[in-house]
Order: sequence, then C-alpha cells, then structure tokens
Amino acid sequence: MQENYTVCNCMQVSYSDIADALHQHQSFDSVIAAFEDVQKVTHCSTGCGGCHQKVLDIISELMMGSSKNV
Ligand code: FES
Repeated sequence: MQENYTVCNCMQVSYSDIADALHQHQSFDSVIAAFEDVQKVTHCSTGCGGCHQKVLDIISELMMGSSKNV
C-alpha cells in the first residue's frame, strides 16, 4: 500500500497531507464535514475539482480505519 502520492494535482496535496489534516480533527460525524475541514487546511479540491471523489474516498477510508467505537 503506497501511502504517499499526490491526490490533488492542482493544489499539490498528497495522501499524507490529507491524513495529517484529518488527524487534527477527530470528532467529525460525517465524511462531508471532515472533507470541508480538510479542504480548509490543505486547499485540496479547490481547483478543477477532479479529485473531489478521491479525497472523499480517502477521508472515509481513514475515518473508518481510525475510529474504534463505531
Ligand atoms: S486535482 Fe484537485 S482540484 Fe484539481
């Protein structure tokens, strides 16, 4: 599993940038809320928008992987 690759080419946001941004905010109850916050921190998906689904997928994957009491 490769952990670090560019997810958003427009803003040069990598997988680890998203993971870092997400780890600052552990208390989200929705992927959309997490996405908005990750977007504020990293500016991912503010260019062409083509990475939107990729970013959402990564966030939901990370949230599921890291939340222990779902
Ligand atoms: S690739 Fe992320 S906004 Fe264009």
